[in-house]
Amino acid sequence: MSVAHGIKTLGVIGAGQMGLGIAYVAALRAKVTVQLYDRSPEQISKGLNLMDRLLAKDISKGKIQEADARHARERVSVIDQVVGVRALRDVDMVIEAVSENLEVKQRIFRELAAETRPETILATNTSSISITKIAASAVPQGESAASALGKRSAGRVVGLHFFNPVPVMKLVELISALQTSEDTLSRARAFAVACDKDVTVSKDVPGFVSNALLMPFINEAIMWLERGIATRDDIDKTLRLGMNHPMGPLQLADFIGLDTCLAIQKTLYSGTGDSKYRPSVLLERMVDAGWFGRKNGKGFYEYD
Ligand code: CAA
Repeated sequence: MSVAHGIKTLGVIGAGQMGLGIAYVAALRAKVTVQLYDRSPEQISKGLNLMDRLLAKDISKGKIQEADARHARERVSVIDQVVGVRALRDVDMVIEAVSENLEVKQRIFRELAAETRPETILATNTSSISITKIAASAVPQGESAASALGKRSAGRVVGLHFFNPVPVMKLVELISALQTSEDTLSRARAFAVACDKDVTVSKDVPGFVSNALLMPFINEAIMWLERGIATRDDIDKTLRLGMNHPMGPLQLADFIGLDTCLAIQKTLYSGTGDSKYRPSVLLERMVDAGWFGRKNGKGFYEYD
C-alpha cells in the first residue's frame, strides 16, 4: 500500500549539483513548491541557470510540455540571504545538500530544529556521514536527547541519498538514524517515489551501501594509476568496455568531485578504522593542489 507523503512545500539547502538536481525533480516530478537556499548568491544563479537549461532540453526532446516546465519553474523560489533558514519555518520537509562536512551539517540541523515546525521532516543528502550524529544535533538547545521532546525532534531526521546526475539516476538510498521515527521513514520513502525514484534501504554505517562499495573501487583505481600499472585511459577503458560501466572509475571520481571522494573516504576510514578505506596519496595530493575534477575544470581529465 502506498503511503501519502503529505509534502506540499520543500526547502532545499545547498544549490550545488545535488541540491539543484533535488529541487528539479521535486518541482517537476513530485510537483511540490521548493524554496532554495544557498549562502552563495553566485551558486544560486548558476543553479537556476542549470535548471532552465535542463527544462529547455527536456522540452526539446519532447519529454515534457512547455507548460510543465513553466509550472515547475514557478514552483521554485529563492530564499533571501538575509532571512536564511528562518524562511523554512512553514515547510513540510527540508533536504540539506551542502558539502560533506559534519560541523557544517550539525550547525544547519541545530538551526532547523529551532526554526521549523516539529512535524517538518529534516532530511540530509549526505553520502557518508552518520545520520545518527546529524540527528543528535536536531535536539533543541537545552533539551536532553532522551527526553520526549528531544526524541521527537531527532526522530524527524532521515538520510535521503540521491545520486548524480539527480534527474537521470533512478536510485535514492534511504537511511534511518537510530532516532528516526517510522512515520518519518515512510513519508521520506513516499516522497522519493513521488520524485520518480526507486528506493533501497541501508543501515547507518559509514558510506551506507553505495559508497562503502564504490569508494574502495575508485580508490583502488587511483592507486593503480599511481603505481603505473596502467594508464589513466586504459584503466577507464577496461571498466567501460570490459564491464559495461558508463564511466571508468577515474572519470567517475572526477564526475563526483575529487574533494567529495576524499571527504567520503576519510569518513569511511575514520568511521571503520579499516585500512581498505585509506585514501590514496595521489588523491590527497590532487585535492591539495585544488584539482577537484569536473566541477572546477581539472582532475584526472581536463574540462572546459
Ligand atoms: N543533468 C541532467 N541530465 C544529464 C546530465 C546532467 N548533469 N548529464 C547527462 N544527462 C542526461 C542527458 O541529457 C541524456 O538524457 P536523454 O536520455 O534524455 O538524452 C542522458 O543523461 C545521457 O547523457 P549523454 O548521452 O550526454 O551521456 P552518457 O550516455 O554518457 O550519460 C551519464 C551520462 C548519465 C552521466 C552516464 O555517464 C552515467 O550514468 N555515469 C555514471 C554516473 C554515476 O555513477 N553516478 C553516481 C555517482 S555516485 C553519487 O552520485 C553519490 C555519491 O554519494 C558520491
